[in-house]
Amino acid sequence: MNVFQYPALKDNYNWIISCNKTRYCAGIDIYDTSIFFDYIKKNDLIPIAILNTHHHHDHTGGNNAIFEKYKQIKFYGSDYDLQHKRIECQTDGLDEGDKVNIGDITLNVLNIPGHTLGHICYYNKSAAFVGDTLFASGCGRLFEGTPKQMYHSLEKIIDNIDHSTPIYCGHEYTESNLNFSSSLNSKYFADYRQRIKLERQDNKMTVPTNIKTELKYNPFIMVRDKYLKKEILNLDKYSSEEAFSILRNKKDNF
Ligand SMILES: [Fe+2]
Repeated sequence: MNVFQYPALKDNYNWIISCNKTRYCAGIDIYDTSIFFDYIKKNDLIPIAILNTHHHHDHTGGNNAIFEKYKQIKFYGSDYDLQHKRIECQTDGLDEGDKVNIGDITLNVLNIPGHTLGHICYYNKSAAFVGDTLFASGCGRLFEGTPKQMYHSLEKIIDNIDHSTPIYCGHEYTESNLNFSSSLNSKYFADYRQRIKLERQDNKMTVPTNIKTELKYNPFIMVRDKYLKKEILNLDKYSSEEAFSILRNKKDNF
């Protein structure tokens, strides 16, 4: 399985996954279609699907142009978004436990509501596409869901996805997320923040991340760990879920 990641808009990421054996490929959350079409042509690939994590336009904005060019392909998103008809061109709805095959690649589906109610992720051992739910050192804003839903979606990601699997997040937010983390504990996050700062100065992508890193440096996940919650985040008088909610609130006003 190949994963090609490219930036779109101000800070979004788009992906093309392809099967080496069959040459079948799928686009994930495509906004920039010119790079998508070029990559397919250059690599002689056969597009069979678009996989959307959620309905926001910066993740689905390429669907119409792709449909115009490849009328036969499938457009996947959640059952919820299909019912609400809010992903353009969507043909198929997915629910937790469903699988999508792209040639020899099989992707599993989890429902991860919070950022939106129809948010899903696609994952296997080689890659996980988590949209706007989990970011490197952060998590998505709660546009539709509750803090409780988001907290449980993050737990689901941690419990189901291998901790070394590359996690492809929807946006390049790592540096600004670390600015927030540093406001919670500047010493603890200093080295990691500096490393990310230098990478961004060189215009490097800091996505993908993996769960191993997030367990250590993502405050929204660190609240699960008794020691980190107390010693690093100073939130020991709250339950993990309450601490998550406090942090999400703080970040919204940061
Ligand atoms: Fe979004």
